[in-house]
Amino acid sequence: MAKLVAASLLSADFSMLGEEIEMLNKSENDWVHVDVMDGVFVPNISFGQPIVKFIKKYAKQPLDVHLMIINPDRYFEDFKNAGADIISVHYEACNHLHRSLSSIKELGLKSGVVLNPHTPVSLLKDVLYLCDVVTLMSVNPGFGGQKFIEHTYTKISELKTLINSLNLNTLIEIDGGVNTKNSSLLYQAGADVLVAGSAVFSAENPPLTIKELKK
Ligand code: DX5
Ligand code: ZN
Repeated sequence: MAKLVAASLLSADFSMLGEEIEMLNKSENDWVHVDVMDGVFVPNISFGQPIVKFIKKYAKQPLDVHLMIINPDRYFEDFKNAGADIISVHYEACNHLHRSLSSIKELGLKSGVVLNPHTPVSLLKDVLYLCDVVTLMSVNPGFGGQKFIEHTYTKISELKTLINSLNLNTLIEIDGGVNTKNSSLLYQAGADVLVAGSAVFSAENPPLTIKELKK
């Protein structure tokens, strides 16, 4: 089981984004989680390729790009060129998920699927072999700082069972409401990667919080 932290820049101070990324570079953070929102799939708009390109210029850790947009396939190449290392799409936003995941892999990137809290893990059975990462949303996507949905623990164990039954190495990522109080339980339940936005960026000592998230 991996124990990785992916700090989400959504909660960073954008007036000093370079410094925030520099802080992550020097910390034990593993992936930089980048939340792209279109105001249609989710009720919020964040940022697009130009900002991702800027993030890439400073970040030393892999960019974990979480696309909360409809018809994401239109932008895979753009996000690759902007510096994405992992691209994750929402199950609920793709009509042809097999094609979407194959396209991400054909670009030479790591591929991921994200499930909203209402989407069952069992629906992934036939595409799991195309996923390097599966992200379980533990809040309804769109905003940072929301409350963790406890049912996520059940989904982690269902997903772990499915991954093992298919003999795969897919990583399980958890996104939303992660903090130093639930992190060790999440890793114990089978999570490999924890996304943390507000827990890291509103902490007094962000590098220490990142360290504590891994304990
Ligand atoms: C929410 C985003 C998350 C968000 C998490 O839709 O996908 O990555 O930044 O924020 P926290 O960790 O504050 O719940
Ligand atoms: Zn996210």
